[in-house]
Amino acid sequence: MIKFLDLYKLDKKLSNKIHLNISQTIKNGDFILGKKVHEFEKKFSSYVNSKHTVGCANGTDALYLALKCLKLPKNSEVIVPAMTWISTVLAIILNNLKPVLVDINENDPLININQIKKRINSKTKVILPVHLYGSVVSIRKIKKIIKGKNIFIIDDAAQGHGARDEKGNKVGSLSDLSCFSFYPGKNLGCYGDGGAVTTNNTRLYKTLLKMRNLGSIIKHKHDEIGINSRLDTLQASILIEKLNYLSKQNNKRRKIARYYDNNILNRNIQKLNYSKNSVYHQYVIKVNNRTKLTNILKKNKIQYGFHYPKSINQLECFKNYFKGKKFNNAEKLAKSCISIPIDPNLKLQEIKKIVNCLNSI
Ligand SMILES: Cc1ncc(COP(=O)(O)O)c(C=O)c1O
Repeated sequence: MIKFLDLYKLDKKLSNKIHLNISQTIKNGDFILGKKVHEFEKKFSSYVNSKHTVGCANGTDALYLALKCLKLPKNSEVIVPAMTWISTVLAIILNNLKPVLVDINENDPLININQIKKRINSKTKVILPVHLYGSVVSIRKIKKIIKGKNIFIIDDAAQGHGARDEKGNKVGSLSDLSCFSFYPGKNLGCYGDGGAVTTNNTRLYKTLLKMRNLGSIIKHKHDEIGINSRLDTLQASILIEKLNYLSKQNNKRRKIARYYDNNILNRNIQKLNYSKNSVYHQYVIKVNNRTKLTNILKKNKIQYGFHYPKSINQLECFKNYFKGKKFNNAEKLAKSCISIPIDPNLKLQEIKKIVNCLNSI
């Protein structure tokens, strides 16, 4: 069996250090906003070159809090891609804001920047691009479009830990606010739920610190309407250790991606374009006859995934939001996508087996 991602194997070498960190936290007993949370926040800020990091309970909350701290008028418009994980759009709706969908490009999974321009109006307050599959949206180009306008950029970096833009700047330092998830399967994942917002804006940082902790940073002084969304100290103690290996593991993902790029040579399979400094959270291919290919993968005991089988406008819970709207590229990707394993610990022999299998149809 070739697993999609073997989480146990991924951290096997760090296991002793992680256990040590966990026992230290248990000894300290500072499970809520403890020492290790602050240590991780500092370390993560330094890794992504951002002034501040605010840990929170998960990536969905990171997006929710990032939008919330802007305190925008009800029904302000937020431009977001039609292909992303549901959380990106849920965070907008839960803040009483209006999601405005924009299609992705034809041959890559990222929001179409020219289309963004067409959807901007006086109600637009946020552009929320997603670095889907670890491929990086050009925030510089978006900045050019909104120059002089009172519009924020929040990037969904849940799949982009360690990725860099076209100028070599790290995701997490490019926008007004960047939102990360540390869900276990992410490039940087913990042993449960976890998330963070990074920002260079000290005013927003101070608001976020309160908002993630019921509106308070001083006990019994609550001067914001907040939620309970703190990063667990235990999770932070795991992340501190795992962050040391992120770049190495991202490089392994890049190598596997290069191998796939060069060796998947089947006219029935369309490979996607990824940005130059992508971290390949997923390696996604497109095929017209998906069932045929998944049957072969199953027969060969190769696990796979779909990211994602429905575009945002096709999700049941949003049916009243985007009625009658079509997003051709997002819908096509939803119908034809297959994510193949890109576990940093895949062996060459396993990668070759996957390639042979894909080339055989
Ligand atoms: C693009 C994207 N946004 C947001 C999230 C939400 O993160 P979480 O699962 O930690 O809430 C995820 C991950 O699941 C994601 O992939």
